[in-house]
Amino acid sequence: MNFTSETHGKIILMGEHAVVYGQPAITIPLLNLNTQVEVQPSLQAADYLDSTYYCGPLAQVPPSLEGMAALINLLIKDLPIESHLKIKVLSDLPIERGMGSSAATGSAICKALFAFANTHLTYEDLLHYTNFSEKIIHGTPSGVDAVTVNASQPIYYIRPDRISTFNMNLQGILVIIDSGMRGNTGAAVHDLRILKQHRPQLVEPLLQELGSLSQQTKQAVSSNQLPRLGQLFQRAQQILQTLQVSNHQLDILCQRTQAAGSLGTKITGGGRGGCLISLAADQTTAQHIKTAALSAGAQQVWLQPLTNY
Ligand code: PMV
Repeated sequence: MNFTSETHGKIILMGEHAVVYGQPAITIPLLNLNTQVEVQPSLQAADYLDSTYYCGPLAQVPPSLEGMAALINLLIKDLPIESHLKIKVLSDLPIERGMGSSAATGSAICKALFAFANTHLTYEDLLHYTNFSEKIIHGTPSGVDAVTVNASQPIYYIRPDRISTFNMNLQGILVIIDSGMRGNTGAAVHDLRILKQHRPQLVEPLLQELGSLSQQTKQAVSSNQLPRLGQLFQRAQQILQTLQVSNHQLDILCQRTQAAGSLGTKITGGGRGGCLISLAADQTTAQHIKTAALSAGAQQVWLQPLTNY
């Protein structure tokens, strides 16, 4: 018998990095970009993983999939599962780009294995197991990814568990730009922690300001103030540059999107690679931004309307 589950991706609109230190973040689920997991009894005498990045025995996964393997092993231990498993992972989400691929995979694995074991899964357990693999991958996750990949509305999040949803009805388009460079959230979070220890007078006020930008973002998106949101993106990107989580190629992409008519562009997620988000007032401008980003070396671009979210 096969059991399948699906979980979607996410984007951090505002507050990445600051959210690790207790500041609010604003995130949106990407409801059209999904990760599917299918579980069935294995015909082999071992657990087996079949994914885009690795196909073979679970015991031999490459280091980049160790968090996922550890989660599967924990679930097999915690749940009444007698047979060996074949677990197939299919995803629309590129990995290490800040789009929630690891949290979506962890959540989808959790849901599929609970279904396979015919065991009721609570929301608390879903977050617990998703964050278990996130900790192995990122070190000290704020938990915002696990919450957002399991939400269907925009989220205002303060760690560890202040979660509120809200509606967004912005007449604009979010252009999501995959730089093509893998990010490294664990390293970026670690390096920022060191910078904060060495230069607290510089870093702490900037983290607080990012938190304030999240509050202002919520007001701007709730009252359809698109140009204001663009200004907030611009200020956030300046701060993230100062905090050394952007890089030269991302800065160049930001400049090109500005020249193409963007209202504001910033990194999303851990940075040092991964994705940028850029704000367009209409479809024509969004297409200009997409063309400019692709000709400046971006790998992939998605257009996400912000109406009726
Ligand atoms: O790169 P992502 O999508 O995993 O996002 C990381 C966001 C950070 O704030 C940098 C870290 C965290 O755990 O919240």
